[in-house]
Formats: sequence, structure tokens, C-alpha cells
Amino acid sequence: MSNSELLKKIRDEVWDGEHLPLYSERIRNGVYPVLGEGSHEAKIMFIGEAPGRNEALQGRPFCGAAGKVLDELLLSAGILRASVYITNIVKDRPPQNRDPLPEEISAYGPFLDRQIEIIKPAVIATLGRFSMRYIMEKFGLADYVTSISQMHGKQFNAETSFGKLIIIPLYHPAVAVYDAGTKEVLKKDFEVLQEFSV
Ligand code: URA
Repeated sequence: MSNSELLKKIRDEVWDGEHLPLYSERIRNGVYPVLGEGSHEAKIMFIGEAPGRNEALQGRPFCGAAGKVLDELLLSAGILRASVYITNIVKDRPPQNRDPLPEEISAYGPFLDRQIEIIKPAVIATLGRFSMRYIMEKFGLADYVTSISQMHGKQFNAETSFGKLIIIPLYHPAVAVYDAGTKEVLKKDFEVLQEFSV
């Protein structure tokens, strides 16, 4: 099966996932799950937290205010949005944009794990502390987890079933929506990604 077919299978499972913790919330609100978007052979994979209101309405990741910041950061680093893959840990919107609960992360995490296995990125850039912790733990680097203010922009090497992987924790672009200082830090951190984008 091609990467696109394998990813579509995951989409169908989430779509029909009546057992998933935020499924009934999705149906009640008449919105979409958000699986991910971008190149199915991407070298760089961005992993956020969970869809917000705009994302659930459109079924696309990072298409609201945080997405505008992400677009700006990609542009400033000279990285084409279509060349990367962008997704979240949790595939349905938590009510009122609250933080994802541990049981939501455990229920949706295996879909993300499969997306990573299919795309086999060279770099995973985590957006925010939830995906930072999830990915560091998943790849056996839990001992290196401290605060995002200490970890952002650093590179962590992991061995995976598909070879070497570099993990780069980044601040969540939503923080930069109202904080120009964080946006400058993010811009600088994004420069590191440039070398992996070609
Ligand atoms: N915040 C996220 O973590 N993911 C999105 O897709 C949008 C906002």
C-alpha cells in the first residue's frame, strides 16, 4: 500500500471511531476530525496539540490564528508548507480549547504513532509542551524532558524502527499570537529547520 493509502486508512478509522473520547463531541458540534496535511513523504513533520475551532470546522490543521503564525514562520525560514507534514496528537477538538486530557492523548496517540511510521520523517518538530513530552517519551528520551523554555530549539537524536530521527521542540505558535517576543524566538528556532527542508 502507498503512504497515501495507509494514511487514508487512519483517516477512515478516526472518522468512524465511535469509541474515541471526543467522537460524540465532534458529532454534536457537526465538525470534522483533523488528521493532518502536507507531503506524505515529508522530511519534516510538525506535531501540535489538538485542533481548535477553525481547524475542526475545516478539517485542516493550523488554519486559524496559530496557523497564520505557523505560515509566517515557515515563510521566514523559506520552507514550503506543502513540503512538510502537519498534524496533532489529538485528532478531535477538545471542548472550549481546553488542554487535552491524558486519556485523550492515550486514545489518539496510536494514530499519530502510525502516521510517523508511515511518513518516516528525518525531523519531528513538536509544537508546544504536550507533543514535546509525548514524542520525547515515545522515543525513549523522557529523562531529557525539562521545561519548554529550556528545550526549545535544541536537537535531540533518537533511533527509530525507520532509522535516525532528530527531534526539535518548539514553542506552540499560539503563544506567539499575542506575544511578539515568543514569535522572534520561534523565528530563530525555525532557522534550524531550514537545513532539513531540502
Ligand atoms: N493548535 C494546535 O495545536 N493544532 C492545531 O491544529 C491548531 C491549533
